[in-house]
Amino acid sequence: MLSAIVAIDRNGAIGKQGQLLCHMPADMRHFKEITMGHSIIMGRKTFESFPKGALPGRQNIVITRNRNYAPEGVTVAHSVDEALSVATMPGDMFIIGGEQIYNASFPLLTTIYLTVIDHKFKDVDAHFPRIDMRSWIIISQEEHPADERNPYPFSFITLKRKKAL
Ligand SMILES: NC(=O)c1ccc[n+]([C@@H]2O[C@H](COP(=O)([O-])OP(=O)(O)OC[C@H]3O[C@@H](n4cnc5c(N)ncnc54)[C@H](OP(=O)(O)O)[C@@H]3O)[C@@H](O)[C@H]2O)c1
Repeated sequence: MLSAIVAIDRNGAIGKQGQLLCHMPADMRHFKEITMGHSIIMGRKTFESFPKGALPGRQNIVITRNRNYAPEGVTVAHSVDEALSVATMPGDMFIIGGEQIYNASFPLLTTIYLTVIDHKFKDVDAHFPRIDMRSWIIISQEEHPADERNPYPFSFITLKRKKAL
C-alpha cells in the first residue's frame, strides 16, 4: 500500500524556498511515529533539505534523474515506479514529498496522512495536489490548538481513497 504524509496550510501550500512552512514539533513527532520502520520515498530536493541527512530507522529512497547521485545512507531511484520496486521495509511505503513527487505519485496513493495547519502562509512556492473529496473518505480527524511550541492550530486527518466502483 502506498501512503503520503504531508503538512499543508489552508491553501494547500507545503513549502517555501526549499523549506517547510514553519516549525511544528508536534507534527515532526507525528511524522516520526507514522513513518518509523517503513520505507520513505522523497524527491532529491526534499532529501537535501534535511539538516542531518537520511532519517534514522527508515529506508530513505531518494528520486533523482542524476545517474551519479549516491549520498550516504540512501537508496537511489530514478522514478516513482523504481522507488516502489526497491522498497524493502515492511508495511506501507510513504511518499514524503516534495511537490514534484506528490504530483507524480498522487494517482497511486491509497491513504493520505494530512496535517492541516490553520494558517495561510505567504510567499509559498510548493503545493500538494488538489484533493477531490468525492474520491476520499475521512477515517480519522484530531484537532489541536496552538501552544507554546506549535505556533498555529492544526489537525491530523487520515484520508482513504474510495474503492473504484
Ligand atoms: N509540508 C510538507 O509536508 C513537505 C514535505 C516534503 C517537502 N516539502 C517541501 O516541498 C518543497 C520541495 O518540493 P519540490 O517539488 O521542489 O522538490 P522534490 O519533489 O523534493 O524534489 C524534486 C527533484 O526530484 C527529482 N525528480 C522529480 N521528478 C522526477 C522524475 N519523474 N524522475 C526522476 N527524478 C525526479 C528531481 O531531482 P534531480 O534534480 O536531482 O534530478 C527533482 O529536482 C520544499 O519546500 C520542501 O520543504 C514539504
